[in-house]
Amino acid sequence: MSLFRLDASILPASSASRSLADLVEQEWVAAHPDSTVTRRDLAVEPVPATAWADAVTANFVGEGERTDRQREAQALATTFADELTVADALLFAVPLYNYGVSQHFKTWFDLAYTDPRIDPQGTALRGKPATLVTVLGGNYAPGTPKEGWDHSTGWLRRVLEDVWGLDLRVVERPFTLVGVNPALDAFSDAAAALKLKAEGEAVIYGREVAAMRGSSAV
Ligand SMILES: Cc1cc2nc3c(=O)[nH]c(=O)nc-3n(C[C@H](O)[C@H](O)[C@H](O)COP(=O)(O)O)c2cc1C
Repeated sequence: MSLFRLDASILPASSASRSLADLVEQEWVAAHPDSTVTRRDLAVEPVPATAWADAVTANFVGEGERTDRQREAQALATTFADELTVADALLFAVPLYNYGVSQHFKTWFDLAYTDPRIDPQGTALRGKPATLVTVLGGNYAPGTPKEGWDHSTGWLRRVLEDVWGLDLRVVERPFTLVGVNPALDAFSDAAAALKLKAEGEAVIYGREVAAMRGSSAV
């Protein structure tokens, strides 16, 4: 059994998305103590910004004409797709940055998506259990002043659930900047409740995903 975990926080020491992903991972490990957890930390090891274009353009020329960079980009895409296809369950921890999707995650996704197993025609990930943890410094819920400004969560759901066909659960924790940004002090009760809710969901979804792959706990 194996879990693939991807983290995209650029501030790992204080990361809310990591803490929530830890809860999901703990449930997996409790149910499958002998399983492997494969990690990819995109902040520690970012995907080169040139890799995607190199992998795409590699397919426009014959194998013998490819540059070293194109070959390396294709090999990296293969590694990413291997990690996803081999795992029994997937876990993604991705913060909102600058009102959009983390550039680290987008660069990783674009490159992985060039692999034929999981490209627009690929079906290798269909039905695979997965959890997405997403954290937002503010709150973009319906009725809030910045409703509609979170351009990350919708895209993440679209590509993971609809494009790759993962059996996806989403843990969302808004207001992580409450307690950090004094302008948000008025929302401390709401933020505490949202944190608790997200932590509860992380545990429940972690258990659910682990149970879907059978329990090896004694
Ligand atoms: C450079 C940077 C840009 C950010 N941009 C936004 C933003 O546009 N909207 C928002 O709600 N939060 C924003 N945040 C706050 C993060 O979403 C929040 O701190 C989140 O908890 C980060 O994830 P982490 O705790 O896992 O590191 C930003 C944080 C950083 C460091």
